[in-house]
Amino acid sequence: MPTEIVSALGVAPGSVVLDCTAGRGGHAAMLAADAGPTGTAVLCDLDPANLDFATERVRATGVGRILPLAGSFARAPRDLIRAGLAADAVLADLGVASTQIDTPDRGFSFLADGPLDMRMDPTGPVSAGDLVATANAAELTRIIREFGEEPLARRIAEKIVRMRTDSPILTTAELAGLVREAYGSRAASSRNHPATRTFQALRIAVNDELGALDGLLRQIGEAAKAMAEGRSTWLVPGARVAFLTFHSLEDRRVKQAFAQLVRDGLGRTPARTPEIPTETEIATNPRSRSAKLRVVTVGDPTERP
Ligand SMILES: C[S@@+](CC[C@H](N)C(=O)[O-])C[C@H]1O[C@@H](n2cnc3c(N)ncnc32)[C@H](O)[C@@H]1O
Repeated sequence: MPTEIVSALGVAPGSVVLDCTAGRGGHAAMLAADAGPTGTAVLCDLDPANLDFATERVRATGVGRILPLAGSFARAPRDLIRAGLAADAVLADLGVASTQIDTPDRGFSFLADGPLDMRMDPTGPVSAGDLVATANAAELTRIIREFGEEPLARRIAEKIVRMRTDSPILTTAELAGLVREAYGSRAASSRNHPATRTFQALRIAVNDELGALDGLLRQIGEAAKAMAEGRSTWLVPGARVAFLTFHSLEDRRVKQAFAQLVRDGLGRTPARTPEIPTETEIATNPRSRSAKLRVVTVGDPTERP
């Protein structure tokens, strides 16, 4: 939803733009172009290859300054403060990049065989293979139920634990096959591949996706309170913040955090309902079908220093 994002964030020349999930730099380049030669683009990504790619793409826009931040966006507010910057616009386009999904060696997809990895940061401490090899049945059940909203979580977890005692589960195809077996005859009536929810769950756990999201949302709330008390923080008064989410676990958190800001009189949302992609966008980019865009204006722009 690039057009909707650019219009919602309304980046003016000279702005400081924080893209929490720079990815391949598509959104960041558009926002940086609006910020222009006097503007600053702060780019964050867990995936160092994506961050490098996005940085070069954004550099080509001629934006005045680029600050790349490798690591979780939960640390971006602290890094902004350290750099003496405050963001006018923030974007978080959550989840996984298509380059990550489409590279079998990264182990995100059950559609192509690869090592069971799923780390966005390839140096991260725990891969999906580690989780599948070491977590006990209760822990695997919790992960698959909570992060995958998978009704057959216990059955799948128990199957993983049983199968791994015979031979280790090392590849995406092995795990996908095992989940399909756990589904049994239910697989035929499943709308998506039976492994969809289990793969989502493991990916969320491996990359601490909801922990990072909660951390960022908490810091937006704290910044809003700080600016209401007249303190300067990592957001300027009137900063616009946009989240693009892809499943209900993410969207629920963003919706609740924004609603709290509005209730506390610390933020304004343009609409109660999120923006969703048009039929045309879904036709050209099927992965966008579950996208929801929510935007909030934090604090009062008339109180800018
Ligand atoms: C959907 S893609 C973003 C695509 C990007 N908007 C573009 O235009 O190319 C999500 C990106 O966010 C990164 N990511 C996911 N969770 C992250 C986190 N907690 N901190 C930093 N980056 C994260 C992923 O590595 C991936 O590159």
